Amino acid sequence: MRLHHVGVAVDDLDGAIEMYENVFGAKVTHRASNDELDAAFLSAGDSEVELLRPRREDTPVGKFLARRGPGLHHIAFAVPNIRQALTDARARGLELIDHEPRIGLHGVPIAFIHPGSVGGVLTELVES
Ligand code: CO
Repeated sequence: MRLHHVGVAVDDLDGAIEMYENVFGAKVTHRASNDELDAAFLSAGDSEVELLRPRREDTPVGKFLARRGPGLHHIAFAVPNIRQALTDARARGLELIDHEPRIGLHGVPIAFIHPGSVGGVLTELVES
């Protein structure tokens, strides 16, 4: 089990990047966008911090931000084979948000597990 990244919801992406650079000396490794959000990835040793700014309010991160404000959104664990990990998760009775893998902002297959199944923390699996 390896922590792949931590996802943080932000309302000001450049401001958040500046804060991580100034406070922690973090460096942006890459940026990515899709129709729902803009993201920046900061190197944190073997893991990353994934800063997520929603492009619209009617998106999962947009709704999260409106409801809870900026802050910790999800954690992500690396798995060697995402389909096998989802099969195992189903066999254990976990509630999946993504029943099939989809391509995430890192360009590799991901899937989310419902927070209700894993101690209240939205959890992402990343094939890596
Ligand atoms: Co993520």
